[in-house]
Amino acid sequence: MKQKHLTSLIDLSTEDILEIFEWAERLKSRVAQGIREFALQGKTVGLIFEKASMRTRVSFEVGINQLGGHAVYMDQKAIGLGSRESIKDLGRVISRYVDGIVIRTFQQENINQLAKYATIPIINGLSDDYHPCQALADMFTIKQKLGGFESASLAFVGDGNNVARSAALACAKLGVPFSLASPEGYGFKQKFKDLLDGIESKDGFSFLETSDPKEAVKNANFVYTDTWTSMGQEAEADARRKVFADFQVNADLLNAARKGALVMHCLPAHRGEEITDEIMDGPASIVYDQAENRLHVQRAVLRLLIGAWNCQLQ
Ligand code: CP
Ligand code: NVA
Repeated sequence: MKQKHLTSLIDLSTEDILEIFEWAERLKSRVAQGIREFALQGKTVGLIFEKASMRTRVSFEVGINQLGGHAVYMDQKAIGLGSRESIKDLGRVISRYVDGIVIRTFQQENINQLAKYATIPIINGLSDDYHPCQALADMFTIKQKLGGFESASLAFVGDGNNVARSAALACAKLGVPFSLASPEGYGFKQKFKDLLDGIESKDGFSFLETSDPKEAVKNANFVYTDTWTSMGQEAEADARRKVFADFQVNADLLNAARKGALVMHCLPAHRGEEITDEIMDGPASIVYDQAENRLHVQRAVLRLLIGAWNCQLQ
């Protein structure tokens, strides 16, 4: 893998992503066979979390442990990101203690700055802009369902948020048609659309945006949704519930998708809002496979970025 950090999917090549998937498959089967891994032996990975998390925190802590490493969790109270000390000083000091950082924060710029000043690999565990580890696990899940990406087509129904942006970037890199259905004013901002348009994409990728969920899912065999109110937007929750009311993933919408379409959600889900119980618990739902695959994909990322980085020094 050519990149030192995973701050977003923008700089990752198709080959980098496929290499992560190869390692994810390899590590998934090795761990299942009870084979011990030592890629992070003697290494410590810091987890800096400015927002709540269950999946990301637990899957990283468990993944680090399974690779023979040690995780140190630091919340905002302890770290005071950008208030107690500058990101520049945090990056320079923490690089002398740990071998890599997973960071969940509000501003993507915090992650970019940390990557600039730290001398160790930085992994984005979610920002307001992106959620690259989620998108990698999502595409790995699709690959495991279909065996490849040739026949995949992904529709995201809901807010044009961090998860949607990372899914779009992943689709671009892997040649998967992507459509987004959002209420007026809640889709991708022009700046991101320009970025999506400007990155090197693989043949097969296309981007359709619409305010009609049924139009978005028409050709899709994967229908993805996420919360209507992301962390940090809690004050808008009531207003958003009204605006997004017609953007629920339910049986009626799934009937408008390709036959046999599967339903995705990054979780946590708000049952009865963006997705119904019937769909979450039904045969089309692959949401728990996505959640499990966070662990497999992140172990691969840790091995490639932190394990490999260490090997180069030896
Ligand atoms: N999908 C996801 O990142 O979940 P958490 O917020 O629980 O980490
Ligand atoms: N869009 C959600 C994803 C949570 C995993 C948020 O940012 O809160």
